[in-house]
Amino acid sequence: MITKRRFSVLLLRGGVIIGLAAGVSLVFWSQLRNREHLYIRDLTKVLARTVQTDLSDEMSYRVLAHQRLAKMIQDGLPRRNWEHQAKLVMEHNPGFIAEQWMDATYQVRWVATEAVGEPASEHVLATDAPLRHLLEGLAFSREKDAILTRAFPLGDRKLGRRVVVPIYKGENFFGFLIAVLDEEKNFESILADQAALIHSKSTLENEKEWVQDVDLQLPGAKWRVRIWPKADLFRKIGSTLLEMGLAIGSVIGLIVFILLDAAITAHGKSREFSQARDELELRVQERTAELQSTNKELEAEIHQRRQAETSLRDLSGRLLRLRDEEQRRIARGLHDSTAQILCALAIHVERVQELVLRGEISRSQKLLAQTTDLAEQAIAEIRTLSYLLHPPLLDDLGLEGAVPWYAAGFCSRCGIRVNVEVQHHLGRFSNETELALFRVVQEALTNIHRHSGSPTSDITLFKDASRITLQVKDHGRGMQPRALGIRGDTSAFIGVGIAGMQERIRQLEGVLEIESGDGGTCITVMLPIGSAKLASEHDSDGKSPELADSSSGNANS
Ligand SMILES: Nc1ncnc2c1ncn2[C@@H]1O[C@H](COP(=O)(O)OP(=O)(O)OP(=O)(O)O)[C@@H](O)[C@H]1O
Ligand SMILES: [Mg+2]
Repeated sequence: MITKRRFSVLLLRGGVIIGLAAGVSLVFWSQLRNREHLYIRDLTKVLARTVQTDLSDEMSYRVLAHQRLAKMIQDGLPRRNWEHQAKLVMEHNPGFIAEQWMDATYQVRWVATEAVGEPASEHVLATDAPLRHLLEGLAFSREKDAILTRAFPLGDRKLGRRVVVPIYKGENFFGFLIAVLDEEKNFESILADQAALIHSKSTLENEKEWVQDVDLQLPGAKWRVRIWPKADLFRKIGSTLLEMGLAIGSVIGLIVFILLDAAITAHGKSREFSQARDELELRVQERTAELQSTNKELEAEIHQRRQAETSLRDLSGRLLRLRDEEQRRIARGLHDSTAQILCALAIHVERVQELVLRGEISRSQKLLAQTTDLAEQAIAEIRTLSYLLHPPLLDDLGLEGAVPWYAAGFCSRCGIRVNVEVQHHLGRFSNETELALFRVVQEALTNIHRHSGSPTSDITLFKDASRITLQVKDHGRGMQPRALGIRGDTSAFIGVGIAGMQERIRQLEGVLEIESGDGGTCITVMLPIGSAKLASEHDSDGKSPELADSSSGNANS
C-alpha cells in the first residue's frame, strides 16, 4: 500500500520531471516557431516581389493593349470592329469596365462597355474638371505615351482609374482613348494567381505582422499595394511537428519518470532486502551462539546429573549394605544377648518349678528373684532397641519432647553432656519434617560421639515465620579437610551419615550447612515450614534409612 508521504514524493518527482520535459519541449517549440515565422516573412517578401513583377508586367501589357486599341482609331477602323476589339480587350483584362474615344474637341465619339447591351453609368463616362484639365495639359504638351490618372469615385464606394492614351494621326492630334477600370477588380484579376496565398488588403490586426508594401511606378501614377499571407498559408506551412514535439516531450518525460521511479524503488527494495538479510544473518548468529551456550549448559547439567545419579546409586548401595549389616547386628544382639537372657529365664522358671515341687520354697524364692531381674533386663534391652528404631515420643510430643528426651538418653549412654535449647511452644510440624530433624539430631550426636572427641555438645531448635532452624554443635577436633571438600557432593564423605542427612533435607527443599574447624563442628539445618512431600514418598518405601541412621546411633550409644 502506498503511504501518503510516498504518494506526495512520487507526485512531486513526477511533476518535476514532466515539467522539465515540457519546458525543454517548449524551448524547442519556440525556436521552431521563430524559424517558421522567419520563413513565412521571407516567403511573404518573395510573394511581394512576385506581385510587384506581376503588377508591373500586367499593367504594362494592359496599357499596351489600349495603345493598340487607340491605334485602331488612328488607322480609321470602322466603329463596329473597334467596339468588338474593345470588348475583347475588356474581356481579357477583367477590371476594365469601359472604353471611349474622345475626339480632339473633347466630344465622346465611340463608347464600349463591359456589360453587353447596357450603357455605361454616369460615373464611368463623366468628364470632370480635373480630367478635362489633365487632357488639355496632355494635348498641349503633345504627350504621346499612355498615362494612368488619379483615382476617382466610381459609385458603390468603389474607386476607379483611367488609362488615357493620346491619339495622333501623323502629327495631327486626334483625341484620346480613355479606358476606365475598377481598381479593385483590376488588381484582383492581376493577382488572381496569388489569391490562394495572399490578401491584398486587410483589417485584421494579427495579420499586420506579415504585411508587405509593394510599390509600383506606372506612367502617371504610383501604386502601393499591401499584401499579407492568408490563414490557409499558415496552415499549409505550419506542421504539427511542434505540438507533436510537445506531446512527445511530455511522454518521454513520463517514461523517464516511470523508469527513474522504478529504478529508485528497485534500489530501495534491494537495500531493504540486503538489510533484512544482514539482520537475519545476525539473528541466526545470535541464535546459534545462544543455542551453543544453552547446549553447553545442558551438557554441564547432564554431567552434574550423571554425577548425582552415580553418587545416589553409590549411596543407595552403601545404605543397603549398612541395612544388611544392621539387621545382622540386631539379629546377633537378639541372639547373643536378649535370646540368652530369655533362655536363662526359661531355665530359671523350669528350676523354680522343680524346687516348688520338691518343696524347697526358700531356694525357689531366690531363683524367682533372679528370674525377675532377667525378665527386666530383657524388657530394657527390647525397649532400648525399639526406641532407637523409632522413638514413640516423637509421634506423641513432637520435637519439643523427643529431642530433650533423646539427648538425655544419649548423655546417659555415652557420658557426653548435651545442652538442649528448644523454643518454647515450638509447635508441631509435618511428620516428615519432624522425623528428618530428629534423624539429623541422632546422626550428629552419633558423629560427635564417634569422631569429635568433644565432652559437650549444644542443640538449639527454633523457628520463625517461614522456617525452622536446627543447630548441633560440638567443641571437638573438627572434620578432616577431605570430609569437608565438596559439601554438595555426597561422595565426598566416607560414611553415609552426612550424605543421608543432606539427602533428607534436600528432599524437603531445605538447606544443610557444615562449619568445622579447630574449635569444633557445627551443623545447621534450615527447613521451610510445611514442605515435606518428597520425604513422605521416600519414607513410605520402608524403614531402611531410619534403620541405617538409628543403627549408627545404636552401635555407638
Ligand atoms: N562432629 C564431628 N567431628 C569431627 N569429625 C566428624 C564429625 N562428624 C563427622 N566427622 C567426619 O566426617 C566423616 C563422615 O561422617 P559420616 O557420618 O558421613 O560417616 P561416618 O560417621 O564415618 O560413618 P556412618 O556412615 O556410620 O555415619 C567422618 O568419618 C568423620 O571423619
Ligand atoms: Mg556418621
